[in-house]
Amino acid sequence: MSFTAGFNQLFCIFATNMETVVSGIRSTGKLHLGNYYGAIRNFVQMQHEHRCFFFIADLHSLTTHPTPDDLQNNVRQIVVEYLAAGLDPEVATIYVQSDVPEVAELYLYLNMNAYLGELERATSFKDKVRANPNNINAGLLTYPVLMAADILLHRATKVPVGKDQEQHLEMTRTFANRFNRMYGTEYFAEPHAFSFSKQLIKVPGLDGKGKMGKSEGEGNAVYLSDTPEVIRKKVMRAVSDSGPTEPNQAKPEPIQNLFTLLEVVSSPDTVQHFNDLYNRCEIRYGDLKKQLAEDIITATEPVRSRILEISNDNEYISKVIREGSEKAHESARRTLSDVREIIGFRKS
Ligand code: TRP
Repeated sequence: MSFTAGFNQLFCIFATNMETVVSGIRSTGKLHLGNYYGAIRNFVQMQHEHRCFFFIADLHSLTTHPTPDDLQNNVRQIVVEYLAAGLDPEVATIYVQSDVPEVAELYLYLNMNAYLGELERATSFKDKVRANPNNINAGLLTYPVLMAADILLHRATKVPVGKDQEQHLEMTRTFANRFNRMYGTEYFAEPHAFSFSKQLIKVPGLDGKGKMGKSEGEGNAVYLSDTPEVIRKKVMRAVSDSGPTEPNQAKPEPIQNLFTLLEVVSSPDTVQHFNDLYNRCEIRYGDLKKQLAEDIITATEPVRSRILEISNDNEYISKVIREGSEKAHESARRTLSDVREIIGFRKS
């Protein structure tokens, strides 16, 4: 180990002023390659350099009224997959939002200076109203306040999220600053979206257009929990194209997408090999897809076997959730005790 690496490690262990990171994960089902290469691998990297809290946002999921069974299963699924992907409960705090009721209390306080107009103007609210005109509940309206409470609960300064959450972060800063101003304090620091945009890999889907996603249909995404047979079937059905007809032709989107996937999971030699075949107009897409499927299977095998292993280990899952919630609770209790005092409640 080099001197600097050793020093950094020591520094991380003893530093008390490590920046705090919070990110919430919505319980919307299985993780796919896009989630894995685009986000989770960054969480895994961050966990060693920051005081990290990663939680499953089950309170947020109540806006769509899940059944008790679905609620439970979704939470469990996410915990299993995040652990399998490399989040380490020994370094990061992994917890379930509803296990830390202080967040609901902070949400109540923040609601007192969140204004109807600004909540109605939030893009996510307007989108949901449009998509679901029969379920415009108050929880939906105040979703950004609950999200602010999640972040301020641990007084986080960095929030690793996608572009679509920027506006919520902006609102969180507004609520934090308003609280500070109202009580003449500097208690809450401003949290900022932390994006990995420079290193971010955009993983394309299998339908020939755009990125991998759940909403684009089952065949578009390869899930970390898919079996090798399912992966082969999905990849062989991926949209490709005819051609090329001339040497060194530019690649149309569906073909470029297959090459991008190859770059994510295969060796540089393999990518080069198929690139050369393409440029010489000798490529057979069937061969490329076969290779791609096998390389996806190899690249994701460790995660897949960990998913199976962990999902059979109820005791381990419960332990992770219990210990995570204890750690999160401790941090939350501290904040709420300060906040109550700042607001002016009588000290007990
Ligand atoms: N709103 C986030 C999403 O839809 C999930 C979320 C809830 C979150 N609370 C959070 C993200 C706090 C970061 C921090 O993906």
